[in-house]
Amino acid sequence: MYCGCKYISGSASTSLNPELQGDSESLGSVRSEVLPMASTSNKQVVAIAGAGDTAKYLVEELEKDSNYDIHLISRAERPWFNRPSISLHLTDYSESSLLSILNTTGATILFSFIHSNDHFYNDTHLAMLAACANSMACKRLVPSEYGGDLVNHADKPRMYIPTHGKIRRALREHKAKGGPVEWTLVNQGWFMDYFVPLEKRYFKSLGPVWPLDTDAWEAHLPGTGEEQIGWTAGRDVARALLRLIQVPYREWPEEVYLQGDVGTWHQALTWAEEFYAASQVYQDIVEYHDDPDNVPKLLKAYMDEWNFSGASANPREIVEEQREQLFPGLLFHTVKEIMEIGKRTGHI
Ligand SMILES: NC(=O)c1ccc[n+]([C@@H]2O[C@H](COP(=O)([O-])OP(=O)(O)OC[C@H]3O[C@@H](n4cnc5c(N)ncnc54)[C@H](OP(=O)(O)O)[C@@H]3O)[C@@H](O)[C@H]2O)c1
Repeated sequence: MYCGCKYISGSASTSLNPELQGDSESLGSVRSEVLPMASTSNKQVVAIAGAGDTAKYLVEELEKDSNYDIHLISRAERPWFNRPSISLHLTDYSESSLLSILNTTGATILFSFIHSNDHFYNDTHLAMLAACANSMACKRLVPSEYGGDLVNHADKPRMYIPTHGKIRRALREHKAKGGPVEWTLVNQGWFMDYFVPLEKRYFKSLGPVWPLDTDAWEAHLPGTGEEQIGWTAGRDVARALLRLIQVPYREWPEEVYLQGDVGTWHQALTWAEEFYAASQVYQDIVEYHDDPDNVPKLLKAYMDEWNFSGASANPREIVEEQREQLFPGLLFHTVKEIMEIGKRTGHI
């Protein structure tokens, strides 16, 4: 099998989740190819779990810094990640598979970008926490949160209560018991990348969950359009993650809050109108509740609630305080700036 990345190790166990069978062929074909791979350089070994959209920004930012070896953990080969800077490790996200990868690579930090609205999220993160705890060197874990204000809106979006609740509790218990793994939940509000056309960003379309349709240039606003909303560029989040690597062990806050811009959807639409001549279409949240068995509608209603409750706007004092303490000198772009960059350049 061709792979532009440095090597592939297949340390997955044989009991694959049936949902993942689509990926099992490529996994099976390399499963026996376990190569010894202790880090041969003085570089810090960074492990990334989940070869998705946000992970691309972190990979690109890590590549700009010669101090890091990048090890990607995924269920299958993903074309974009097939690059010389990346060592790929196929997994089924079981604890034993993850532990083997962490120990053979010598990873010291694990960033998860797993995106799942079912039990896969808790399952994989619980395995990551256990694997880090039992590993020789991986004592830092950044779970895949990337939401909004957990100080005032810990219950939103509501679908996260069953999907994220268990691992959040496990992380807190781990800390309370003096466990060895330091963790932090990174939250940036909305990724503002969705203001930029699809072909110029890494984030796939969110469909109706994102209020502004960048194909039709119409907006379906949740709430009154006057509630506070927070946005941050995906690349700025990645840059902040690099800074977090450099923060001394045991100095991470439990929650990190980032925010490139804050405003209302009405304001944001004015900015977008200036750029793209978008029109506004208003829609009342109430109509989502007339069909309670419709899961996509329910998820959309939960995400709308995340918008109009102000949960995407991070606590301003914490954002500012952490910016000073953890991210001095780091530029966080505004929505207008990111649209401008999108217009000027091929990609944000
Ligand atoms: N606030 C916002 O605006 C916003 C927007 C988007 C995402 N997010 C959050 O950011 C994080 C990363 O999201 P992303 O968009 O970068 O992720 P993504 O590209 O959708 O997926 C990341 C990885 O998650 C795994 N995955 C995806 N769908 C799955 C499924 N149905 N079942 C099991 N595993 C699945 C895959 O891992 P493998 O590589 O192993 O296949 C995939 O590479 C998530 O926590 C997400 O909720 C926030």
